Amino acid sequence: MKTRLPLIAGNWKMNGDSARARELCNALVSRSPHWPTLNGQKVDVAVFPPFVSLPAAHEALKDSDIVLGAQNMHEAVSGAYTGEVSAAMLLTAGCQMVILGHSERRQLFGETDLGVNRKAQAALAAGLKPIICIGETLAERESGQTNAVIEGQLRGSLAGLTKEQLQKVTIAYEPVWAIGTGRVATVEQAGEVHRFMRGWIESRFDTDTANGIRILYGGSVKADNARSLLANPDIDGALVGGASLNADEFDAIIRASV
Ligand code: PGA
Repeated sequence: MKTRLPLIAGNWKMNGDSARARELCNALVSRSPHWPTLNGQKVDVAVFPPFVSLPAAHEALKDSDIVLGAQNMHEAVSGAYTGEVSAAMLLTAGCQMVILGHSERRQLFGETDLGVNRKAQAALAAGLKPIICIGETLAERESGQTNAVIEGQLRGSLAGLTKEQLQKVTIAYEPVWAIGTGRVATVEQAGEVHRFMRGWIESRFDTDTANGIRILYGGSVKADNARSLLANPDIDGALVGGASLNADEFDAIIRASV
């Protein structure tokens, strides 16, 4: 039995243009009346288009409950940071959330736990809710280091955050070996890490904070595996990459969330 309202988040990565963003958002809005509820509340749904498509997506989503977010941000308020975008800019573009520390950012762009932590602090200070991504590589899993890696990333990425701030944070467990590979973690593997994460949060913060925080699973979530993953009481939703680019597939994942 689920106690936390699920969040289904679509990370579009570097795909599509503004016209495609508008089309996809319109398709989701038209399907949204059929999305499930938990204790009378409709499941939370959010999409994360590329920066340049945010205005088009914002316009298409304006009369809906679908939340808009960005895939990254810079921690400074403004300044000489060529190519970067600040939290305040994202807010004015209609964003309420931001993905931080995605494994592609960590692996391809050298992001560290320290940097993710700075961004998380800046996002929260500005009023954006971060989804902080955590996950081990295949080599780390196979050498038995999963829990140590997860703990290190949690400790580093959440450093200095208060209980009150943590209430605005979502964690995404994204095993690197499952992202874009079609190789999904088993329900047992994901559930085990989610329980470990919640236990760590309980020991570092308190029981209420641990029970309140949403921990999403991400990595090759599709319409055909979503129901079994999301039925696990420790899995509070999904961060969906490839399958979020198809309205029918994303809709099916949302419908499988409760
Ligand atoms: P995927 O990506 O669903 O395409 O594996 C998930 C993610 O990177 O968030």
